[in-house]
Amino acid sequence: MRRCLPARIFQFDYNNTQMLNKINQIRQNLEAATAATAEAVEELRIKYLSKKGEVSALMADFRNIPADQKREMGQKLNELKSFVTDRINALKEQLASGADNEAANIDLTRTATPLPTGARHPLSIVKNDIIDIFAGMGFTIAEGPEIEDDWHVFSSLNFPKDHPARDMQDTFFVTRTPVDVLLRTHTSSVQTRVMEKTQPPIRIVCPGRVYRNEAISARAHCFFHQVEGLYIDKNVSFADLKQVLLNFAREMFGPETKIRLRPSYFPFTEPSAEMDISCNICGGKGCAFCKGTGWVEILGCGMVDPNVLKACGIDPDVYTGYAFGMGVERITNLKYRVKDLRMFSENDVRFLAEFESAR
Ligand code: PHE
Repeated sequence: MRRCLPARIFQFDYNNTQMLNKINQIRQNLEAATAATAEAVEELRIKYLSKKGEVSALMADFRNIPADQKREMGQKLNELKSFVTDRINALKEQLASGADNEAANIDLTRTATPLPTGARHPLSIVKNDIIDIFAGMGFTIAEGPEIEDDWHVFSSLNFPKDHPARDMQDTFFVTRTPVDVLLRTHTSSVQTRVMEKTQPPIRIVCPGRVYRNEAISARAHCFFHQVEGLYIDKNVSFADLKQVLLNFAREMFGPETKIRLRPSYFPFTEPSAEMDISCNICGGKGCAFCKGTGWVEILGCGMVDPNVLKACGIDPDVYTGYAFGMGVERITNLKYRVKDLRMFSENDVRFLAEFESAR
């Protein structure tokens, strides 16, 4: 006799494993399920518990399970049904009590995800180092405007009327009439501003950005950063200047660092000098950086010219003082060997990230 098998057996050839997988999948889905509105809960109920829902479909397939597995599967299916019912009821209750807001779901025991932190710009790192060293020697910080007038940048500082620094080729002018307004070419202008307002003793460092009309290349830029210093009091001598600079060089570049002062010229100092330090890259032996000399120039300095003191209302018969000025980019190059000046202002995060550990 021909035996007729029920059609469903061919359609759904269920075995134990398939049904177990499906049960687990429904459980996982419901565990992860959230519902923000009553409609969403109802959708879940329909999806799983309605007559055509997934749980009901599984129940219908139960009859295809081989007899020896029916007991175990039946139990699992019943458990699933109560789990789904409980879970949907719980979601309903959560909604009703309003407990499903964010605050209630925050797990205060979870470790926080670390936020990515930025790195400090190398010029800021070095500028702050310079300031810290001078602060340790009693200097305070003074700042002034970047857009300046001729008086504070040139005239008060003893620049003659025809000095080449006043040329369009060297300085960015904002306006030329009725007075010259320009981007400061050095932070000595801040020293003038402080001297005009304060009687000695004055002991300041002036950090800031300065501008010069130069073509941009790896070795020159139209703006850079300076820290200049000024000390005015009774009996300040060149020896004081030399000691302060030696101290600075050793703190900045290490205790073995040597300095040398070469005679130079600046309109606002007399006598004037340029200071070299023993090349910190080759230790003074001679390398490409110091062009084989063992020395690298790092700053200009000198005794404040009496004309400058007079112009700023300080009596040169009573007071003397020294001033010095250095480029932050140059010091940074010596410390971190940045070969191209343009990298400082391109803000490539890969470049900046290299200084993360230097903070
Ligand atoms: N102002 C000078 C410059 O910009 C540096 C300097 C400052 C030199 C003070 C001597 C004294 O180059």
